[in-house]
This record gives sequence, C-alpha cells and structure tokens, in this order.
Amino acid sequence: MFQAAALTGSKPEQYADLIEQARALLAGEHDRTANAANLSALAFHALPDVNWLGFYFFDGRELVVGPFQGKPACVRIALGRGVCGTAAATGRTQCVEDVEAFPGHIPCDADSRSEVVVPMFQGNQLIGVFDIDSPLPARFDADDVAGLEALAQVFLESLR
Ligand code: SME
Repeated sequence: MFQAAALTGSKPEQYADLIEQARALLAGEHDRTANAANLSALAFHALPDVNWLGFYFFDGRELVVGPFQGKPACVRIALGRGVCGTAAATGRTQCVEDVEAFPGHIPCDADSRSEVVVPMFQGNQLIGVFDIDSPLPARFDADDVAGLEALAQVFLESLR
C-alpha cells in the first residue's frame, strides 16, 4: 500500500518530494481517471490551505469536471471562460491572487480566494486543466506554480 510521507524542507524541496511521491503512486498505471483521482487525493492532503484540487478534461468542445477533492464543482466550463477556460484557451498557467478580481471567474466553492490553473497539452492537443483553489488570498507564488506544473506533467506522462 502506498504511504504518503509528510513534506519537509523549503517549498521547492517539498514539491520535489511530492512529485517523487506522485511518480511512485502513478507508476505502471495509465488509466486517466485512476491517475487523476489518486493524484488529486495525494496533492489535496499534502498541500496546506487548499480547499479544492482536481481536474477538468476537454471533451472536444468544453471542459468537463474530472476527479477532484473538495466540494462539488461546476461540471462544464466553456473555453475562454473563468480561470480554467482562460488557462485552456491561452495555454498559459493562470495564477490568480484574488479570484474576485478575475474577470469572469466562476465561483464553485464560495470559500475560494486564490487559484492556480495549469493547462495540460499533449503536443498541440488540449487534454484539460489541473485546478487548485485556496481559501487564502494570494496563497500561491512562483514556487507553487513551478511545483503544480511539474505535478501536471507527472500526470500527463503517466497516460503514455
Ligand atoms: N474557479 C474556476 C472554476 C472551477 S472551480 O474553482 C473548481 C474558474 O473560474 O474557472
């Protein structure tokens, strides 16, 4: 059985540990739902001050909610809408210090104050987004963005 170890050290060191744990957890499995579910559970319990963490997948038309941890969420998000749709449409990670100041932000959990959304592509093909919400304003910095992008990459690599 997989044992998640407590994260220690500097924030980059903690993400390095978490990324290693994620690789071990997903090793040998290529199922998208299974790996998104287990990665969500691992990261949600490892990262402090996070109230929602999970995946939206692109169905060829819009984003549809996938495995996640947190309160029930909006199911479908059009490309270009909200933080998730913006990440998907631009191909750029969105790090939002104050979700209420983000034009078109879609409030799923009223507790969310800041948010990171990492777009996921395989080549030019949009797979979906990895979305992390915090109840604290400006919870995420450049170390979080780098760590969360690396976690999304571990997920993408596990699908092959
Ligand atoms: N806030 C997101 C919607 C998804 S929830 O945060 C889970 C957005 O604006 O796209």
